[in-house]
Amino acid sequence: MQFVAMNRFQIRKGHEEAFERIWAERESRLKQTPGFREFRLLKGPEGDGARLYISHAVWESRADFEAWTKSAQFRTAHKDAGASKTQDAMIGPPQFEGFETVLHEA
Ligand code: HEM
Repeated sequence: MQFVAMNRFQIRKGHEEAFERIWAERESRLKQTPGFREFRLLKGPEGDGARLYISHAVWESRADFEAWTKSAQFRTAHKDAGASKTQDAMIGPPQFEGFETVLHEA
């Protein structure tokens, strides 16, 4: 069954555009990664001076996802995660959650 990997980012008010640009301009290799199915950057509700964003990726299996997290592609994708424009935008580190698919209707 497909596996959904989500990371929740709390983004400081006024930094939304900068944060979206970091994602839009990244060099992504996900499409060449075995088991990768789809990716979305989701913009959620605002509250308490922060806007919730979620990076949402669908994988063919948990094993495919885990293999990617151990790959050079994962390290490359995160080499700038400590950069100040990223860190200034975020309130704390992102929170990861992984989900097994129970039902899928499309
Ligand atoms: C379980 C841990 C994590 C997972 C599953 C995850 C997932 C992802 C995915 C799927 C991408 C897109 C990669 C691509 O397109 O090739 C990405 C990029 C990114 N991740 Fe993560 N991530 C994790 C940890 C973190 C952490 C701790 C940060 C904290 C800064 C972070 C910040 C970012 C940013 C800002 C990008 C955009 C790429 C860039 O900086 O150019 N991620 N992540």
